[in-house]
Amino acid sequence: MSLLRLRVTNLRCLGAVDIEPGDNNLIVGENASGKTSLLEAIFVLGRGRSFRTAGRNGLIRDNQDGATVVGDVRRETSSGSIGVGLERNGPIRIRADGKDASSAAVLASWLPVQVIDPGVHRLVDESPGVRRRYLDWGVFHVKHDFLDQWRRYHRVLRQRNAALKGGPGNRLEPWDEQLVTAAEAVTEARQGYLNGLAPEVAAVGEALLGQRVTLKYRRGWADGKAFGEALHDATDRDRRLGVTHPGPHRADVAIQFEDHAARGRVSRGQQKLLAAGLILGQLRHVRRESGIRSVLLLDDMAAELDAQRLGRFLSVVRELDVQLFVTALTVDAVSLPEPQRMFHVERGTVSKMV
Ligand SMILES: Nc1ncnc2c1ncn2[C@@H]1O[C@H](COP(=O)(O)OP(=O)(O)OP(=O)(O)O)[C@@H](O)[C@H]1O
Ligand SMILES: [Mg+2]
Repeated sequence: MSLLRLRVTNLRCLGAVDIEPGDNNLIVGENASGKTSLLEAIFVLGRGRSFRTAGRNGLIRDNQDGATVVGDVRRETSSGSIGVGLERNGPIRIRADGKDASSAAVLASWLPVQVIDPGVHRLVDESPGVRRRYLDWGVFHVKHDFLDQWRRYHRVLRQRNAALKGGPGNRLEPWDEQLVTAAEAVTEARQGYLNGLAPEVAAVGEALLGQRVTLKYRRGWADGKAFGEALHDATDRDRRLGVTHPGPHRADVAIQFEDHAARGRVSRGQQKLLAAGLILGQLRHVRRESGIRSVLLLDDMAAELDAQRLGRFLSVVRELDVQLFVTALTVDAVSLPEPQRMFHVERGTVSKMV
């Protein structure tokens, strides 16, 4: 897909933006001019949330009641408009193709977007939830029944947790049976996806770092046990604490770097490249498996990587078929593939340069 037109009002320092991006877009401006905010607007349009902050209120421009982001998108098979409306302390409003939508999943299907920013190392460094979200984004795009499977699993999980909290009189068997079926479906989809993803990430990791990067799926319960057995074994503890312990909601992607766990071992610079490799590998894999062309947002990469690593990074990016949005302080900081469009950001106003 391609984002053909982007309109933003009152998001962070951006007052009113209306731009027509091309395939490769360089966004330049001084510190605090609004470059990251512009990337954030695109991310909000594809995900319904920010990559910088968890809450939505901070996204709304000071002294304003709400913010909007609207995009005209051309997909492989259709074109349309998608939009997100944020209200201070209010719910998020999502529209796609002229209709209200209740979930951000519809945005993702219109605008698959990934970001590599100075905080990208969190993918390697932080808790499993970050990696589950990374993995599930890809599974969602490649396996079309995954969203339903994932929702079913979480629905049954909530019901089982409610039964656990309800006290010892509540029977768990009816939920356990459904939870096992749902967990198996989620696990199989994620595992199958990861099997295809791992070689792509290994290839990108080799190109970026010159090292061996391996990914392994951790299902969220002990190896060598069927899920039903793990659930059964955990029942006493689950009852005591009122929450289900084993399961795909505790899954993780183990990242190994030259046969050692990457977390807590590799340098911050390596973590960033490693995490960037995971994202680029995923974009390549999703493109190959589903034909989907994604949007890739690169924030401040020239400030993050030394000249040699930036060169290697950009040569991998150049080979991806993605729509690129890249921020930099100056026009000569990064060289983008052609055709290229340049936008200048100054105090929250965006104008086209070339
Ligand atoms: N809710 C908000 N309302 C108004 N301004 C905001 C809001 N949130 C952040 N800002 C301001 O927006 C400005 C631009 O921030 P942004 O992070 O987009 O800049 P940037 O161009 O990416 O800068 P840098 O080069 O330093 O990364 C900052 O001065 C920031 O304080
Ligand atoms: Mg910035």
